[in-house]
Parts: sequence; C-alpha cells; structure tokens
Amino acid sequence: MTAPTVFVLSGPNLNRLGTREPEVYGSDTLEDIHEAVEREANDLGLVADCRQTNHEGELIDWLHEAVDAGADVVLNPGAFTHYSYAVRDACAIVTTSGRSLVEVHLSNPAAREEFRHTSVVAGVATGTVAGFGLQSYLLALRALV
Ligand code: DQA
Repeated sequence: MTAPTVFVLSGPNLNRLGTREPEVYGSDTLEDIHEAVEREANDLGLVADCRQTNHEGELIDWLHEAVDAGADVVLNPGAFTHYSYAVRDACAIVTTSGRSLVEVHLSNPAAREEFRHTSVVAGVATGTVAGFGLQSYLLALRALV
C-alpha cells in the first residue's frame, strides 16, 4: 500500500525563517523545517508534500488540490491566519470534505500583539498547535495519525 500524502503548507514570509525575527521564530530555516517534517512523516508512514507561498490565491489553490487528492493538511497560514476569510473558506472546504486540517504556528500568537489573537482559520480547523517552533509542525503530523 502506498503511504498517504499530507500537504504541509506555509504562507507568507515563512520563506524568510532563519533570519526573520529569530527572537520570535527561532533560527531554523524553512528548509530545516521541511527536512524535519519529511523525516517525521516517513517515521509515521506518511509522505509530506511541503510547500510555501507568499500568495493567497496560490495557497487557496493548494487547499483545493489537497481536497481533490484526498490529503490531510498541516497549515501555517502566517498572517493570513488573522484576516483571510478566503483562506478560511478554503480550509472549511478541506474539513467539510472529511479531511483533517491542523493549523500550526511556530510562535504562540495568543501571547503576542492583539491582532494576532484572532484566528479566522481556527473555527474550521480540526485543531491547532502553536508555540513550539519547528516542533509545532511535527506535533501536527503526529495528531494526524
Ligand atoms: C505565525 C504567526 C503569525 O501571526 C505571523 O503572521 C506569521 C507566523 C507563526 O508561525 O508563529 O507569519 O503564523
């Protein structure tokens, strides 16, 4: 049997990890995260399809693609978390199709600026993991199995 694929999607500015506010996001690059995710997925009997985009529409297209592929999703929506109803609606398409979608954040948005306290995605996600840096992604994968 072929291993199920999980889409591991990261939104805007996450391609700058490593040098972007390391005091908030740590020193791991997105490449480090993707390598760790691929290893963990392999250990869990999954295949991780890791992608990052700075573009809302592209992220939405990938969420639709996950639905069509019947794949679960680990999603760090970046700042889209806080205001993108379009990303929220695409996440709802994933979860109402019967797939799981875990919202992840490297930082703990609830402990940061007021505008980060709202997630428009959380209400349609299967669950959320936040505040554990790179481990947030790995914990999200574990939650799926
Ligand atoms: C983030 C938190 C968001 O508030 C922020 O806009 C990001 C990263 C995180 O992973 O901690 O870009 O999603």
